[in-house]
Amino acid sequence: MRETANVSGSLRARLALTLIGGAAGISILMFVVVRSYAAQIAQQGQDRILEASVTSILDAAILRDGVVEVDFPYAAFAILGTEEDDRVFYAIHQDGALLSGYESLPVVPARAGAEVTHVSGEMRGASIRLASASRILVGADLRTQVTVSVAQTRDALQVTLNRISSNVAYYGVGFFLLSVLVASWATSTTIRPLERLTHSITRRGPKDLTPVAQPVPQEMGPLVSSLNNFMARLSTSLSQSEDFIAEAAHRVRTPLATVRSHAETTLQRVEREDNRQALRAMVRAIDESSRAAGQLLDHAMITFRTDHLEREALDLVAIVQDLVIRLTPIAEMKDIALTVVSDAEVNVAADSILLQNALRNLVDNALKYSPVESEIVITVSASPSPRVLVEDEGPGFPPDQINNLATRFLRGTNATGTIGSGLGLTIAQDVAQAHGGTLSLENRPEGGACVTFSL
Ligand SMILES: Nc1ncnc2c1ncn2[C@@H]1O[C@H](COP(=O)(O)OP(=O)(O)OP(=O)(O)O)[C@@H](O)[C@H]1O
Ligand SMILES: [Mg+2]
Repeated sequence: MRETANVSGSLRARLALTLIGGAAGISILMFVVVRSYAAQIAQQGQDRILEASVTSILDAAILRDGVVEVDFPYAAFAILGTEEDDRVFYAIHQDGALLSGYESLPVVPARAGAEVTHVSGEMRGASIRLASASRILVGADLRTQVTVSVAQTRDALQVTLNRISSNVAYYGVGFFLLSVLVASWATSTTIRPLERLTHSITRRGPKDLTPVAQPVPQEMGPLVSSLNNFMARLSTSLSQSEDFIAEAAHRVRTPLATVRSHAETTLQRVEREDNRQALRAMVRAIDESSRAAGQLLDHAMITFRTDHLEREALDLVAIVQDLVIRLTPIAEMKDIALTVVSDAEVNVAADSILLQNALRNLVDNALKYSPVESEIVITVSASPSPRVLVEDEGPGFPPDQINNLATRFLRGTNATGTIGSGLGLTIAQDVAQAHGGTLSLENRPEGGACVTFSL
């Protein structure tokens, strides 16, 4: 039985998306901040040069015979030269009236003596930056205000800004790519302990209930400790129920044996036919019960041992021969010949008690369901995998049930009249599977059953 988990989203994707998204956001923010800071610095540079130009022109303005005269200093425009050949405009106003320069230059109202004012604007379709300052000139009978404005197009500034922008953009992209690398590295180191835990749990067998021992990060601690507690509880309750079955079967068997021997002795003494029949039925019922108890006991033991499988080096041929010696008296009662066909040695790594139990059940079946004076052939071979074939000359398996006979407590329609509890094939199959092998049932073409127990 395999239960699937209810999966929603992926931790890896969530983590990676958050980290990469965060890095992208930070990269864009960095681009915007650095760019606007650079623009501000560049603007301040241009403003300072414009200011110097305006001040030097204003300083050159003098009042001669009541007329304002400006002798442009050479440096006033020379300092404005740029690589991009930005155009320069100027205007000189006296008390608001244009004295010289470009009429269309925006006029900025400026207070005399106040600081230089800077504005951005448009001039002949180009974006310009303008600086403007005023000064009061005082003559004999005149007091007049001179305003000087100098403007410059912003091509050089724009070029500088674009260059800065593209550099910052490259850095931003580089930073982002680096963050993606860091994000994927961070994601996989964060997820790795989780994957390791998943791997170690899925790799273990369905019956392995030992606690998870590998170290896990702090956050996973509670999960792993509840998992361990859960498995410990499960393991305790499993072994308790196995112990209980074993104990119960044992306690039932002993008194049953006593009752059976009493019933048999009584049978010898009783003469009335109906009483004898009742006693025979009683003995039979006792046999059924003690067989069931015995098989239950074995099954509980098998379940326990397959959970904690301990392999040792064994010779399969020796085990089979040993078994045949022990079962020969029973075979002789039915005049059945037990023949072993085998290689010299077939080496396996397995639990000997489990193997003996499984094989005994198979030979036991062959003896039970075979007619008198027949032959049972047990073949042990090492290839393709170590295996034991038990072939008899009985009626074979009921074809419609052949696929289900290894189910617990299931007995075939051919089993009526024989004593049994339907656990023999289950035990054999559990043992084969615990060793990584299989149990397969077939009917031989010439009649009789053939059971293959392979490891
Ligand atoms: N060699 C065989 N020939 C014919 N039928 C067989 C043979 N072995 C097993 N079966 C059928 O398979 C069924 C299941 O076998 P299984 O050994 O599990 O139980 P059982 O023999 O009935 O009881 P027990 O637990 O006492 O062995 C049997 O009831 C019988 O119908
Ligand atoms: Mg059986």
